[in-house]
Amino acid sequence: MIDAKLNARLFSAASLVRQDAVFADIGTDHAYLPIFLLKVGRISRAYATDINSGPLASARANVEAAALSDRVSFMLTDGAAALSGEGVTDYAICGMGGELIADIIERAPHLRCGEVRLILQPMSRQEHLRRYLCSHGFAIRSESYSYDGGKYYTCIMSEYVGECRELTELEALVGIEKCQFLNTGARIGYLEAKLSSLERARAGRLSSGAEDRTDIIISALRELISDVKNSKSNNGEETI
Ligand SMILES: C[S@@+](CC[C@H](N)C(=O)[O-])C[C@H]1O[C@@H](n2cnc3c(N)ncnc32)[C@H](O)[C@@H]1O
Repeated sequence: MIDAKLNARLFSAASLVRQDAVFADIGTDHAYLPIFLLKVGRISRAYATDINSGPLASARANVEAAALSDRVSFMLTDGAAALSGEGVTDYAICGMGGELIADIIERAPHLRCGEVRLILQPMSRQEHLRRYLCSHGFAIRSESYSYDGGKYYTCIMSEYVGECRELTELEALVGIEKCQFLNTGARIGYLEAKLSSLERARAGRLSSGAEDRTDIIISALRELISDVKNSKSNNGEETI
């Protein structure tokens, strides 16, 4: 590996960026993602954008320190709309809530294009983001899982296909079986963490005498975990 390091969460996003992509990191903050991708030769130019000047200043400082200033364009801007017309092929929107990511996509109509790849790493409300994508013409091509700092994360790769579909509760919660899943070990951890969270919430409701109807989704998730543990398929690994 080249002299560049990235945590497991951002590495899962980096691994989904295409070779020689015109890359934009929306909400770049420290710019670790473009710096890594430039250093390993996956891309040769990048846009680093942020809505806040403090994070963008930190991005500039890190890019300067890495001697990559001539290869990164910085933009102080809300979302991805300002990049329309710049020819960006691969967009990363990472480290934000699923609702904010969906909102950023919704406000940038140029992302509804089959040539564009979206690499989305939601920190929360993943179910909202999956539902948004699939009901607005985007296909979820893959989900890449990681374990970082004691937590499990997913990174969703999505492209516009123009066909809409509604997801089942289980699909929204943990992903669509048809897509490719990368890193089965971390995927099992991700699914088990979701299951524990559902079980805790159910136990809390039942002990307080409240109504609870999550038994069906809990059983479906238990069955899925068992299937994934027993299956050797869909067991890709990320590489750079
Ligand atoms: C938690 S940081 C994540 C940084 C990096 N992408 C990562 O995953 O490690 C979120 C960044 O998104 C920026 N941000 C929040 N809302 C944004 C928006 N609407 N458009 C662009 N950047 C945004 C914040 O200023 C912050 O720097």
